[in-house]
Amino acid sequence: MGKLTVRDIEVSGKRVLVRVDFNVPLNEKKGTIADDSRIRATLPTIKYLIDRGARVILCTHLGRPDGKVVDKLRLTMVAQRLSQLLGKQVGVTKDCIGSETEKSVATLKSGDVLLLENLRFHSAEELDSPVFARALARLADIYVNDAFGASHRRHASIVRVADYLPAVAGLLLEKELETLGGLLGEPAHPFAGLFGGAKVSDKVGMLENIMAKVDFLLVGGGMAATFLKAKSYEVGQSLIETDRLDTAAELMKKATGNGVRLLLPVDVIVADEIAPGAKGIQVSIENISRGQRIVDIGQQTIKNFSEVLRKCRTVFWNGPMGIYEIAQFAEGTRAMAKLLASLGTTTIIGGGSTAEVVTKMGLDEKVSFVSTGGGASLSFLGGQPLPGVEALLDKGSPAAVKLKVVTTSR
Ligand code: 3PG
Repeated sequence: MGKLTVRDIEVSGKRVLVRVDFNVPLNEKKGTIADDSRIRATLPTIKYLIDRGARVILCTHLGRPDGKVVDKLRLTMVAQRLSQLLGKQVGVTKDCIGSETEKSVATLKSGDVLLLENLRFHSAEELDSPVFARALARLADIYVNDAFGASHRRHASIVRVADYLPAVAGLLLEKELETLGGLLGEPAHPFAGLFGGAKVSDKVGMLENIMAKVDFLLVGGGMAATFLKAKSYEVGQSLIETDRLDTAAELMKKATGNGVRLLLPVDVIVADEIAPGAKGIQVSIENISRGQRIVDIGQQTIKNFSEVLRKCRTVFWNGPMGIYEIAQFAEGTRAMAKLLASLGTTTIIGGGSTAEVVTKMGLDEKVSFVSTGGGASLSFLGGQPLPGVEALLDKGSPAAVKLKVVTTSR
């Protein structure tokens, strides 16, 4: 990676402001964290800093409070979970900036960890305000970005703060960039992209970019309906993006032109309604009737997809195969998760709902890598520069050279 990382600099005794992405799913009814993967994924950076005697100041957003204080989006629960995981007390401030916060930071000793309250309680965060960024920067000597999942956002704590502090990458950010970057670099072939999820529009950039790399493109999930419609199949009441029919047709043409084998479902599960008690039936794609909606891929499609994936040396998966939140429509998604976990090849899972499925099924340790970034991984694989990465110091740049750079082995 061309950017300085936390390994390259001296952190001992320093106040280090670490932007993390602790935007974790919450179970609001129970008042608990539904999935702590994003917290666990940042532990290597936090432990690295603790072990070297840094004073660690973590900052994150949680949810979308739109510049207001929303009690249920306070970080108390997150600090508790982090304390458990680290086996040491992590305090949380009342506000992420201001004199009280500065006082709390001043009491930190080497190896202590403090979490700042939700950054998005201030609208200035999303407005990329220099004043807000300066207020954050006053708290620290060094800035570390470990929030891969938020690095596609041009926000104050992601981009602007790097104007005021030496800015380097954390270990999670480094790993995400190396792993996902590897897919765009020289992946082992055959390489398959397995895509699902609701919308083609969310993924066009990524599909176009990855097209030059893959040998197989497998399309399931809600977005398959738009592809099928573009091939003039009846898709009933399935949600399709009519303004993306041309895009889907274009992508299929490009795949053929690039020698990529594109597989669409040959059979699907359809239902009259999308509800927990709804009944799904399996039909071939020629037999979808007007009143029905596609809710999952069918058995023959699972077979076809599995056959291709079994012969691949690299697989990237992004997007569920159906409405996986409803148990009877989750079979295709679950089958793909189980298959990938059993392959023993390079299997990389995109963030967001795909990561959620794999983690919930307890398969996250059985795949090669689960990204913590949803939108960020789509942007990155779509070839978009991530503002949060661009803001960091380049290795060998005059500012990097001026900084006391240390070399530590991996
Ligand atoms: C995510 O969950 O994808 C990141 O934390 C970014 O959150 P946002 O979409 O609310 O900016």
